[in-house]
Amino acid sequence: MPVKITQARRLDRDTKLKPFDCNDPDLNDFFHNDALNHSNELLTVTYLFEGRKETIAFISLLNDKISREETGRGKLRTLAKGIPHPKRTYRSFPAVKIGRMGVNIRYQRKGMGTEILDAVKASFTTANKTGCRFVTVDAYNNPCTIGFYQKNGFNFLTEKDHKDDTRLMYFDLKRFIQDNS
Ligand SMILES: CC(C)(COP(=O)(O)OP(=O)(O)OC[C@H]1O[C@@H](n2cnc3c(N)ncnc32)[C@H](O)[C@@H]1OP(=O)(O)O)[C@@H](O)C(=O)NCCC(=O)NCCS
Repeated sequence: MPVKITQARRLDRDTKLKPFDCNDPDLNDFFHNDALNHSNELLTVTYLFEGRKETIAFISLLNDKISREETGRGKLRTLAKGIPHPKRTYRSFPAVKIGRMGVNIRYQRKGMGTEILDAVKASFTTANKTGCRFVTVDAYNNPCTIGFYQKNGFNFLTEKDHKDDTRLMYFDLKRFIQDNS
């Protein structure tokens, strides 16, 4: 059955974290030590997908925007292609950012990550309270992570970061609506 964000548990101060290991020390550390602080400071909201004894996956989301400064005027115009004039002259477009995401090593490569991304796309095209056109992520610049996001329809926002540790990628939520109508 597909995953729904509404079925996920929202991390708060009453949450007792269940064991989690996604084989990435930074992500594990964020999950165990920082996620709650970030929630308390209203910086991210973390959703937990839990089994009886362990955490199967988590995703932390925050507000974002794709701006002309980041992309350059040409790229922003390309992103705005399907948007009717005069709204195309916007200097930025609203987005939701995947701050962190990890799937428990025992559950990786079984489609869980893809289901969570689909749940985010569904949630932000139907139930969000403010406008949101894109999903963004600073993806670890390794073939696995980049491949994962590309397989899920994400593209690079710029070529300027191709040698950096992370690459800025985006997904156009209009595409999700079109693909699912
Ligand atoms: C990246 C991550 C969130 C993906 O979640 P997941 O549930 O394993 O992903 P899915 O099963 O939905 O995989 C979808 C696609 O992503 C790519 N992918 C995922 N894991 C991969 C891996 N270890 N190696 C190569 N490609 C991978 C594949 O194209 C895969 O499709 P396929 O299985 O049909 O070939 C998860 O692996 C994770 O938390 N990893 C730990 C942190 C990290 O980024 N590690 C880098 C290794 S990917």
